[in-house]
Amino acid sequence: MRQTRLISKMKKVVFLTGAGISAESGFSTFRGNNGLWDNYPVEQVATPQGWKENPTLVTDFYNNLRKNLIKAKPNEGHLKVAELEEHFDVTVVTQNVDNLHERAGSSKIIHLHGELMKVCSSDDPDNPEYIETLDDEHLIVKHGELAKDGSLLRPWIVWFGEAVPRMEEAIEAVSDADIFVIVGTSLNVYPAAGLINFVPQSAKIYLIDPFNVETPRGYAVEVIQEVASKGMRILEQILLKKS
Ligand code: APR
Repeated sequence: MRQTRLISKMKKVVFLTGAGISAESGFSTFRGNNGLWDNYPVEQVATPQGWKENPTLVTDFYNNLRKNLIKAKPNEGHLKVAELEEHFDVTVVTQNVDNLHERAGSSKIIHLHGELMKVCSSDDPDNPEYIETLDDEHLIVKHGELAKDGSLLRPWIVWFGEAVPRMEEAIEAVSDADIFVIVGTSLNVYPAAGLINFVPQSAKIYLIDPFNVETPRGYAVEVIQEVASKGMRILEQILLKKS
């Protein structure tokens, strides 16, 4: 008997996540109460100029963040994003430098602003030959520690004023989305915030955030005004009912 096999194409869901998705894991958001930048001026710890002026302070700042990161665990928000891979073709575009999406099990992640667990050459930051992944054993970068090209090891973080190397890849993913979900970002920082402009007209857009986030006019956005964990539970129900 001939059988017809139903090949159902999985819908593409693209998430744009920001600091808010990691808030329930104990990571401060950048601009909220007691946000990271309140204690450390952004010019000092997140600009090429700050690095040039005081690499020791910058190295210490990211060493401390790494110590916090290994203590943190993915929360239900990250886990639900990963679980949706059972039903959808999911891509996560994140502004976060933590590795909580990876540890939750997501398989396609585009880190727009770099990765806290990676360090690179300060002369040639995006040269993969000099990018090293740190682990629990080597979490702390020593003052004066060098990359393989002999320059100072610097955090593999995209600082303010630097180009966002994975932007093209993110635009490609977003342009192909059937569903676009924004979670925990104030949409204050470009070019990431501009990704919404690449969402196809036919795609459905959701936004999960406990506070009001301004989205560009002209887009129909379904807002789920909740923290990431509860918001993702609600979104999962909506998406699974529809699929
Ligand atoms: N769940 C979901 N969202 C939350 C939660 C939560 N539990 N708590 C706070 N939020 C929301 C806030 O309401 C805010 O809209 O998360 C958002 C965090 O915004 P920002 O602190 O501005 O962080 P983000 O948008 O990721 O910043 C973008 O700017 O500072 C640079 O490079 C840094 O990647 C960062 C970028």
